[in-house]
Amino acid sequence: MPAEKNKRGTEKYEGTEKYEGTEMKIMILGSGGREHAILKKLSENKNIKKFYVLPGNAGMQDLAECVDIRATDLEGVCSFAKEKKIDFAVVTPDDPLAIGMVDRLEAIGVPCFGPDQKAARIESSKIFSKTLMVKYGIPTASFRKFENESEAMTYVQNISCPTVIKADGLALGKGVYIAQNREEACRAVRELMEEKKFGNSGMKILVEEYLTGPEVSVLSFTDGSTLIPMISSMDHKRIGDGDTGPNTGGMGAIAPNPYYTKEIAQECMEKIFLPTIRAMKEEGCPFCGCLYFGLMLTKDGPRVIEYNCRFGDPETQAVLPLLKSDLFSIMEAVRNGNLAEVPVEFSEDHSCCVVMASGGYPGNYEKGKVIRFGSGKETVYHAGTGKTESGEIVTAGGRVLGVTAVRHTAEEARKASYDAVGEISFEGACYRHDIGTK
Ligand code: AMP
Ligand code: GLY
Repeated sequence: MPAEKNKRGTEKYEGTEKYEGTEMKIMILGSGGREHAILKKLSENKNIKKFYVLPGNAGMQDLAECVDIRATDLEGVCSFAKEKKIDFAVVTPDDPLAIGMVDRLEAIGVPCFGPDQKAARIESSKIFSKTLMVKYGIPTASFRKFENESEAMTYVQNISCPTVIKADGLALGKGVYIAQNREEACRAVRELMEEKKFGNSGMKILVEEYLTGPEVSVLSFTDGSTLIPMISSMDHKRIGDGDTGPNTGGMGAIAPNPYYTKEIAQECMEKIFLPTIRAMKEEGCPFCGCLYFGLMLTKDGPRVIEYNCRFGDPETQAVLPLLKSDLFSIMEAVRNGNLAEVPVEFSEDHSCCVVMASGGYPGNYEKGKVIRFGSGKETVYHAGTGKTESGEIVTAGGRVLGVTAVRHTAEEARKASYDAVGEISFEGACYRHDIGTK
């Protein structure tokens, strides 16, 4: 009898029962706060005996063995997985997904949580995702695509502003320009297409209608047919209080998002979420994993600003602490195509995650500053941290920590999170003071 296939066409994986009493080994790829939050939640499952994180960070060492292999090292990751007989892999950062890490691991028999390369295009190519939305009537900003610089220039010289210019490919979250006037629009086109600021990612560009309204992030679990949204959340992308200054990887998040009412959730499910997974299936690339919807609630209704093919950062650090169900069972079901059969429940509480960053971020910053932790009452997710030879935890990146508190109300969560931030210090530490006050 042929082995049973899951929705992606790979062989069915038998589930954790098979491992009861054995040493089940899980591998997580990545090194950010998001991966720390995933590790912490997965570690609640007592059937899992061993976690490896590649490459991980200083905060994960209590729960996992961190291995110095880059998440994008296809050969390195696959040979490690084979050598250690990894039972299940969780692939969360955008770049390994875009280069087909899941395809490679599945091909050598390692079941993965995360989309394959074809499905990951929903994030790795904005032209792919915009074309998909237009074809399937999913509401989004209108747009034009350009592969030729002089055509793009002619177009933006006559456009009404503000307008939005985006690189087609991945650009560390920095490939989006909001141009207030035509001059800025021309400069953006030049930076992307002529100066190739983001390399090949900007060879093709989109010029998009400028939308306004509150932004909402909705992460969801999907096995390609069933989609279960997680609790909504709100990112804070700018470095400065009051949404000022340059964009960052995200300076904090709250969950749930106060703008996301039950009615809007219902509308998004009908007009955006389900049509998207149906569209991906129709296109021959069903999406299995965490599908992230970046939405804007405009006066004409919700619009998709972007899709991510993975958990968001720092949204994950606010959303996963509210998950009551077993994350590993959900991930397994996503992988096996039976998500409809497992419980996915969230608490009614509120969470607030405040990111502490190195002074100077998102520009240049120094590393190696010793971090002093507080009483440890709230959860501190590590992102850019390292350990010195003497065992001191030091800063090692732009975003350093994500401090999350969970309480019955948003206000209590915010206060508890800031109280905990106040107890932590390192030279040059900076953070926003207004996470969750909008
Ligand atoms: P993205 O990387 O696509 O999420 O874009 C980064 C940020 O740019 C978003 O979170 C929005 O704040 C803003 N943005 C992107 N597209 C648009 C748009 N069409 N209209 C207004 N703002 C946008
Ligand atoms: N918080 C948005 C992202 O992860 O790209």
